[in-house]
Amino acid sequence: MKNDKERVPKIGVMDSGMGGLSVLKELLDLPYSASFLYYGDLANAPYGEKQTSEVLELTRNVCNIFLEQEVDAILLACNTATSASASKLREELSVPVFGMEPAIKPALLAHPDEKIALLATSVTHREEKLQALKSELGAFERVVHLNCDGLASLVDQGKWEEARLLLQNILKIPQEQGIRSLVLGCTHYVFLKSEIQELYPEAILHDGNQGTIRHLVRSLHLDEKQGQPNYTLFFSSVTNREEAEGFASSLLQKSSGLPPYKR
Ligand code: DGL
Repeated sequence: MKNDKERVPKIGVMDSGMGGLSVLKELLDLPYSASFLYYGDLANAPYGEKQTSEVLELTRNVCNIFLEQEVDAILLACNTATSASASKLREELSVPVFGMEPAIKPALLAHPDEKIALLATSVTHREEKLQALKSELGAFERVVHLNCDGLASLVDQGKWEEARLLLQNILKIPQEQGIRSLVLGCTHYVFLKSEIQELYPEAILHDGNQGTIRHLVRSLHLDEKQGQPNYTLFFSSVTNREEAEGFASSLLQKSSGLPPYKR
């Protein structure tokens, strides 16, 4: 980050659509002076059902927009974009790049003798990043993969009832197998915590938002700049930008129904 004590750090936060707002929402709760530029790539959403090379290209394009805006750091507030591009973009870009990690480790630690279930997109499930994490944790036998393709788009469109129906189907597997610990491996799903909890009251939910935020705050020394954060929203869908911005603002108010998971 630029070496100016007075300067308010500018941080680009990106996602394929609305999901990264669940991370931005938690960042805005912190009493630190920072400017967040949020970019939702709605014109190209969802990312999770695309080829990895395409997700890399799209994420790179958004990062280049951030660089034109002279950001000090970039947060890929999207597990899919992180899986497909974080290591590459860290090599290429001149600013620090932060990403998301599914909260598998805390979930495994919290339930030592049980299996856990990971809800994520196709890209996140199949990419090397997740395989490496499972191998590091020796967790190949304990993670059950739940493919949730389609769910992020429903969140982007605010189709909560349809999301609920899709979830009902997805949750049958952990319910039938008695798996209580669910890892929300996509930032969109954090907006569905209440719905998941209602459909499966015994479930214990884990997400990676707080872990990423702690890492970002520590690395950028945000806590040395007490004050109020501010934010600007951008979306790549030009046709209904106002509608997208209005919906995004309502999502920033939407309660997940649960306190953020603390690691
Ligand atoms: N929010 C994104 C994630 O965390 C995925 C949504 C998508 O498929 O675009 O994985």
